[in-house]
Amino acid sequence: MKVLVIGGGAREHALCRSLSLDPDVTALYCAPGNAGIGEVAELCPVDALDGEAVARLATELEAGLVVVGPEAPLVAGVADAVRAAGIPCFGPSREAAELEGSKAFAKDVMAAAGVPTGRSYVCTTPEEIDEALDAFGAPYVVKDDGLAAGKGVVVTSDLDKAREHALACGGRVVIEEFLDGPEVSLFAITDGETVVPLTPAQDFKRALDGDEGPNTGGMGAYSPLPWADPKLVDDVMATVLQPTVDELHRRGTPFAGLLYAGLAITSRGVRVIEFNARFGDPETQVVLARLQTPLAGLLLHAAQGTLDLEPPLRWRNDAAVTVVVASHNYPDTPRTGDPIEGLDEVAAQDAPHAYVLHAGTKRDGGAIVSAGGRVLSVTATGQDLAQARERAYRAVARIRLDGSQHRTDIAREAAGE
Ligand code: AMP
Ligand code: GLY
Repeated sequence: MKVLVIGGGAREHALCRSLSLDPDVTALYCAPGNAGIGEVAELCPVDALDGEAVARLATELEAGLVVVGPEAPLVAGVADAVRAAGIPCFGPSREAAELEGSKAFAKDVMAAAGVPTGRSYVCTTPEEIDEALDAFGAPYVVKDDGLAAGKGVVVTSDLDKAREHALACGGRVVIEEFLDGPEVSLFAITDGETVVPLTPAQDFKRALDGDEGPNTGGMGAYSPLPWADPKLVDDVMATVLQPTVDELHRRGTPFAGLLYAGLAITSRGVRVIEFNARFGDPETQVVLARLQTPLAGLLLHAAQGTLDLEPPLRWRNDAAVTVVVASHNYPDTPRTGDPIEGLDEVAAQDAPHAYVLHAGTKRDGGAIVSAGGRVLSVTATGQDLAQARERAYRAVARIRLDGSQHRTDIAREAAGE
């Protein structure tokens, strides 16, 4: 099978890495990709948001499967265009991707499906905003209704800051009850009816150690979660994932692709913080590091509506940790164009247990240089989290990128350190 992956971050590098290890994959392409992906897939320049262009490329390549990584192409209808060209596509339709594209839509689906989530108001006027902030009290949770690349949410105890963000969102704003407790990311593969959960992971969203600093796209992740209730996955399947997929099916807009549940484990039970319509980044890096089942067949079953035929997933007993190396000044005004050194040393000395997945990188002559905020996702496996963590940080220490930053506490607590 020939596979085309859309996107160019570390999530897509992880997807391409797993697909390249799948014996059923005879050719692998990625558009637009990055410098690291270029080592396992052939890179194709295409505008990932242009559905017709992606469908044309997939047709020319005779792709048997297209996998859409990021949310923006999904919300723009790229999966619909690929399917209209008769090519199986892993990724929901534009309408179903609204689960991520509009927080108000997601709240409506959850209410209809009886899915536990924070109470919320959808506001459009300054008066409604003030009333909602007043009703919930501090800490305030204010969310831009639409896609905002992780920057749309402000959680603050400062009423003025909460109001300022709400007004700056400009359109619809969701103001929500504060949810206390550890966060878990649980992904499920679905064909619109059958739902197959993956293994839970935890993401570190804040820029600095100790969960300080601004929100980011994610600074690291680990899996499994030794502290989590062993019934968590079954519980979330029954109360969140299956009811949500069923509700979208009932509405005539089935969700086929990856359903990402961002959960808060509160003292009153599990609550959905958000849904995403695609694999999470950087959680995918650790989830796929542990998945033993070949990836292409699994995604193809989801794309073709035959997920009920997929045998039970197989997982490695290993633990996995990924540490994001970000550029100078991420997330505010990341600096790009800095040379990255030490990649060869990781490949020579730390493989196969540790490896570097590229996010914002590109080739510049003979060098690899930074090209975005999150630059690398250094991933390692081990017999437990402590070993995976040690291997990941040993590899991080070999990387030289001027002004770069990374958290030093990824999975530290979970590893019992
Ligand atoms: P989201 O984009 O909805 O995932 O929000 C980004 C981050 O903001 C989440 O990972 C949480 O850490 C935080 N957050 C969002 N909603 C809430 C909430 N209702 N209560 C507490 N924290 C939240
Ligand atoms: N890691 C958070 C996200 O992918 O949205």
